[in-house]
Amino acid sequence: MAEAQPGDLVLLLSSDGKRFMLRLTPGEALHTHRGVIPHDALLGTPLGRTVHTHLGQPFLALEPSLHDLLIRLRRAGQIMYPKDIGYTLLKLNAGRGKRIVEAGTGSGAMAIALAHSVCPTGRIYSYEAREDMLNLARKNIEGHGLLPYVELTQRDIHEGFDQTDVDACFLDVREPWEYLEQVRAAVKPGGFFGTLVPTTNQIVDTLVGLQRIGFGAIEVEELLLRPYKPVPGRLRPVDRMVAHTAYLIFARTPTVGEAVLPAEGPAAAEAERDEGADSDSSEGSGLPE
Ligand SMILES: C[S@@+](CC[C@H](N)C(=O)[O-])C[C@H]1O[C@@H](n2cnc3c(N)ncnc32)[C@H](O)[C@@H]1O
Repeated sequence: MAEAQPGDLVLLLSSDGKRFMLRLTPGEALHTHRGVIPHDALLGTPLGRTVHTHLGQPFLALEPSLHDLLIRLRRAGQIMYPKDIGYTLLKLNAGRGKRIVEAGTGSGAMAIALAHSVCPTGRIYSYEAREDMLNLARKNIEGHGLLPYVELTQRDIHEGFDQTDVDACFLDVREPWEYLEQVRAAVKPGGFFGTLVPTTNQIVDTLVGLQRIGFGAIEVEELLLRPYKPVPGRLRPVDRMVAHTAYLIFARTPTVGEAVLPAEGPAAAEAERDEGADSDSSEGSGLPE
């Protein structure tokens, strides 16, 4: 197992459920409500073990997940929630070697997740109108070691994107319907498009724009995540949850010639599930039968 090195990020969990994230720096120390942990106590040893504060209190030292890192990202304004990011990565087919355009960069949460998915051979082209946001995003992306895979551009995307023939485009801006021609010019025919909006009014404007330009396979979705208290003797949901984050809209960019991609709706989704239920591969998949 690899030993923790200077610069590595470490997640520390206390027995009362408190979480601390630290970047290992020789000579520094983490001060907690249960005592002090010197970074040197972690350096040069593998994670996945218990360390003790100077008061003898135990902490679990773990490698953080991308989820752990994103929820602690330094931010100015709203970032995408990890539950929406994870599903969007699948819907955009964001994988190794893909070239993906996104805007606005914001604090860089989505850019980090995209770069994490396409590296080391792919590339993310991220556009942001505001210089201050771009600077914050650059720091955040660099802090995660992903800057080599992200090209940041300060621009209002009304002026369009520099890239053509990319695999996918994702927009997290207030009025995505204003930029669909720019998306079409950047993405290859039949490529992946996604956007997220916080209100239903914005969904309607986006749908009208997508249909006018000829995007296909349009889907509107919403993800609800309900955490549970992990107590075997009285298992039940937590009292409060984040009831609304945003609506997700996905589509395929207009295809060449006369080809028409069918719009997907509840009927198409049901048909897809029925197909899956008939095939061997659906066994144990967790999909409804
Ligand atoms: C909600 S934030 C994006 C958050 C980002 N997805 C994240 O996960 O950190 C929206 C960003 O879009 C930028 N923006 C809005 N309209 C824009 C435009 N026309 N061109 C470029 N950036 C734009 C804003 O400045 C803002 O920083």
